[in-house]
Amino acid sequence: MKEFNFKGKVYIVTGASSGIGKSCADQLLDSGATVAGIDVTDCDIDLPSYSHYKASVTDEDEINKIADDVISKHGKIDGLVNAAGIWGNSKPFYEIETSDWEKIISVNLTGMFIVSKSVSKVMMSQKAGKIVNISCLRSAIFRNNMTDYAASKGGVVALTSAMALDLAPFNIQVNSVAPGFTYTGMTKNSFDNEAVRKQSEALIPEGRLGQPEDISNVVLFLLSGLSDYMTGTNVYADGGYHIQK
Ligand SMILES: NC(=O)c1ccc[n+]([C@@H]2O[C@H](COP(=O)([O-])OP(=O)(O)OC[C@H]3O[C@@H](n4cnc5c(N)ncnc54)[C@H](O)[C@@H]3O)[C@@H](O)[C@H]2O)c1
Repeated sequence: MKEFNFKGKVYIVTGASSGIGKSCADQLLDSGATVAGIDVTDCDIDLPSYSHYKASVTDEDEINKIADDVISKHGKIDGLVNAAGIWGNSKPFYEIETSDWEKIISVNLTGMFIVSKSVSKVMMSQKAGKIVNISCLRSAIFRNNMTDYAASKGGVVALTSAMALDLAPFNIQVNSVAPGFTYTGMTKNSFDNEAVRKQSEALIPEGRLGQPEDISNVVLFLLSGLSDYMTGTNVYADGGYHIQK
């Protein structure tokens, strides 16, 4: 049996201060891993095996410095979780200012490219690594007023598969997880409204919102040796939302 063991391993997690990224960091730390978290906000994780880097995933110089620092302290990077992300402008596309569009693409898609590029160089020299990107069911199933967010997440799914091809010769697996409606910092305001929450739950075959741990459980599987023969895949963790007509 392949390994589901994170002891002594080193991970970078973006968006580590809240929601899905935080849950990934918590689970990895609970499993004995060392984690470097990157987020634009402070993080309340207080453990010797956790280092927090306050930075934006869009700042390439800063991201390269962080990767160098992690290597100088720990000597390797076993895996990367790209969970940093922001919601879109919630308008019809024809009303979105181009600069506002660019902000969403920059954080959700270009940021993932920047961090992955920096970390891949280390993983390529190791001839081993795992990258897990957080996409969204909104990469493929749409409602009105979400073109910027949906385009960024469709881009994440394409980036994942295309990166997986470039990195396969180096024994690096790249996959994405597509959460459905998940209760996090991003969605708290909406789902704390009982009417909105009930309306959303009614659309989910499993009848409940996802919790961050529902998503990080799948991320940990994709970071583990159990998924060594999976690469370039987008795995839905959405309580069955996407299988409905
Ligand atoms: N919550 C959902 O229903 C849901 C559904 C599908 C996909 N997602 C995706 O999951 C990922 C995590 O989101 P979440 O729901 O946990 O939200 P969240 O707001 O709780 O967490 C996102 C984190 O990313 C950080 N972040 C934002 N911009 C950043 C930047 N430029 N650089 C570094 N960090 C930055 C935020 O500060 C925050 O801590 C996002 O990519 C989001 O699009 C969420």
